[in-house]
Amino acid sequence: MTDDPDGFRRESRDRWERAAAGWAAQRPVVQAALQGVSAWLVEAIDPQPGHRVLELAAGPGDTGLLAAELIAPGGTLISTDGAEAMVDAARARAAELGVENVEFAAMDAEWIDLPTADVDGVLCRFGYMLLADPAAALRETRRVLRPGGRVALAAWTDPADNPWASVPMAELVRMGAADPPDPAQPGMFAFRDRARIEGLLREAGFTEVQVDQLDITLRYDDLDAWWDTQLDLSTGLRTAVGALAPAQRDELRDAIDPRLAEHVRDDGSVALPGRTHVAAASA
Ligand SMILES: C[S@@+](CC[C@H](N)C(=O)[O-])C[C@H]1O[C@@H](n2cnc3c(N)ncnc32)[C@H](O)[C@@H]1O
Repeated sequence: MTDDPDGFRRESRDRWERAAAGWAAQRPVVQAALQGVSAWLVEAIDPQPGHRVLELAAGPGDTGLLAAELIAPGGTLISTDGAEAMVDAARARAAELGVENVEFAAMDAEWIDLPTADVDGVLCRFGYMLLADPAAALRETRRVLRPGGRVALAAWTDPADNPWASVPMAELVRMGAADPPDPAQPGMFAFRDRARIEGLLREAGFTEVQVDQLDITLRYDDLDAWWDTQLDLSTGLRTAVGALAPAQRDELRDAIDPRLAEHVRDDGSVALPGRTHVAAASA
């Protein structure tokens, strides 16, 4: 829990509203790298025709939309996110795919606006660790699941496993242009310890808790393409880089690129490694 949860929630919602356009634009790149994560999560909730499935913090909605196909006929996906603009992005993606068994709602994952025992499965890819009170969100998740219903979530492992995200921040901190991230606060790496995920799931009352790891690869034509994607996805990075003088921006890239050089191939293309926890449990 943060020191100022309400202040954090306000700032976070505003930040994600502003991030939505970038997430919609980069959706194909993100999903190409994370397809395997989505597949693991969807399989873990075992969707069946007729099921009601809730996706929390859905962003542009890809993971839930995979499940929507499997719960037809008769089943409904409830695709939700705390940011209205993200819900709009998911709605647009569903229309593009022609998926019709979906309801969309702006909804905070800490206050799930659904009746008790209402859904068969809950999906949350890279959401819970960003919340002011993930324990509350997991208790809410269990409340809206029917007994025996399944939750599946993904959360990044250690920053060192994910240089595509951690190296720019580390270099900004080294240059004095950003504060060191506080591991106790909500954030991308707040669930880096497997034990935290397991503990939170058990404390929320879940059983049959399973936590695995998946390796992913992020592929780009070159490091410039990776950099542009990162700036599109991360408002924090965009703000920090935007505050730098042009010479400092060059200095930043000059510091970052050598740290990623081992992942650059002879033709300039890049294959950056990443690692995530994936977890599932029963209500
Ligand atoms: C890292 S993105 C992940 C998006 C998507 N699940 C994916 O894997 O591509 C995190 C998402 O969490 C959403 N989010 C952040 N705080 C939230 C909250 N309190 N309640 C619901 N959604 C939230 C953001 O708007 C954003 O769409």
